[in-house]
Amino acid sequence: MKVAPNLILVGPMGSGKSSIGRRLARRLGLAFVDADTELERRTGATIPLIFELEGEAGFRQRERALLASLCAGRDQVIATGGGAVLDPDTRRQLADAGFVIHLKIDIDRQLQRLARDRVRPLLQTADRREKLLALGAQRAPLYAQIADLELDSGRMSVGAAADRLAELL
Ligand code: S3P
Repeated sequence: MKVAPNLILVGPMGSGKSSIGRRLARRLGLAFVDADTELERRTGATIPLIFELEGEAGFRQRERALLASLCAGRDQVIATGGGAVLDPDTRRQLADAGFVIHLKIDIDRQLQRLARDRVRPLLQTADRREKLLALGAQRAPLYAQIADLELDSGRMSVGAAADRLAELL
């Protein structure tokens, strides 16, 4: 494995950052931290409530501060939220904090995986396909900019994706 203090998963909603990250951490004997879950734990508020009370800007500010603190740690697999890469300082911090894995997924699989989601604030919209395509167009270059490795996770089970990543590292 390339020497890096952390493994950091970036990519769109539904690409499997949390499930694959958890499996990969277990395989490699590393700690696992999911940024959204950690933010909810630290604030005592759910992501939808933070969006409702503070808007997306407030959420992004909290997400930025949380990731800065996680980036100071080591020997952990970090699953970031899909929009974590929007902030240039956060992108730099993530790139410096470890080996960045970009999980990719095609739009049809993404829609299928997120079909039952009633929680993610950005998905509570009439046209999910259009929304996800717009987010993807904006963010794909940002994921690619900091990625050390890209994996198309759309057609893989969680276990197969974690196995493949463990092989490639
Ligand atoms: C977001 C993705 C979510 C969460 C929040 C915003 C985004 O995380 O951080 O709802 O902007 O794409 P997941 O990518 O884990 O769903």
